[in-house]
Amino acid sequence: MMNEGSHYSQSQKPTKVVVVNGPNLGRLGVREPDVYGHQDLATLRLDCQDWGRELGLQVEVRQSDDEGEVISWMHEAVDQGTPIVMNPAAFTHYSYGLADAAAQVTSAGLPLLEVHISNPASREAFRRHSVISPVATGTITGMGFYGYKLALESVAHTLRESAD
Ligand code: DQA
Repeated sequence: MMNEGSHYSQSQKPTKVVVVNGPNLGRLGVREPDVYGHQDLATLRLDCQDWGRELGLQVEVRQSDDEGEVISWMHEAVDQGTPIVMNPAAFTHYSYGLADAAAQVTSAGLPLLEVHISNPASREAFRRHSVISPVATGTITGMGFYGYKLALESVAHTLRESAD
């Protein structure tokens, strides 16, 4: 049986969700704080885990600068039936390999929410195109770290809907 948001019972195992962060997001807090804020990846990890707990989700936050590793996390999600929240960072704009891998997640019926801390549409021209958005369940941009909370709520919502 699927978890019922924050109302899941202690005996029920929370659904695992993997939050994937692409290149340079390990530099949060140091990297362009005027664009990405002053908080670091460790803070994002704790925030996501707290938000997940409220929703009955067990959240694991990962980060990699390596495209192949991020692709392998998509394959793992398909094999293990794990919903994904992903900030693909710069891979968003050019990685057809990651787009193909993300498509396998959503084709398997698993939610994959794309998140961007900034609003790429309001920035340089190369950021205005995402190769991930066409295969994502949905995309949340420009809301800072709060966007990850919205994405986790969307995952919980989608799981509830599919359980009905
Ligand atoms: C980003 C936006 C991307 O254009 C950029 O390459 C990033 C971060 C964001 O969270 O706003 O690394 O995905």
